[in-house]
Amino acid sequence: MYEMKDEYRTGIDMIDKEHEKLFEITNRAYETLVDDFIPDKYDYIVDIITELKEYSITHFQHEEEYMASLNYKKLFSHKAMHAEFIEKVEEYDFVNLDENQKDVIFGILEFLNDWLVHHIIENDKLIS
Ligand SMILES: [Fe+2]
Ligand SMILES: [Fe+2]
Repeated sequence: MYEMKDEYRTGIDMIDKEHEKLFEITNRAYETLVDDFIPDKYDYIVDIITELKEYSITHFQHEEEYMASLNYKKLFSHKAMHAEFIEKVEEYDFVNLDENQKDVIFGILEFLNDWLVHHIIENDKLIS
């Protein structure tokens, strides 16, 4: 469902590998969501989304360090986009998830994937 595609590649190996992992984590959450044989899957999915948030923070740090090492001109605005993303992910309220859990989580995964794809194509690819 969610995966790294060639058109997302920046040509910077470290960044591409980390993006690949972000898509892998998003996809793992999706596979869990649609697997009716996994009991208590919502807690498990929340854990995966938390892992995605944490890995995003790590990835953003690496990317920002890389941009700084190049004296990349758009570092400041790029950093602001990363911070905004983390803020959005932190706002998710999983505690009050009751009805339509599946739809809500699917909506979250769609948002995360769309953000990643757009950010990579429109911003990360400019770094190289
Ligand atoms: Fe970025
Ligand atoms: Fe990135």
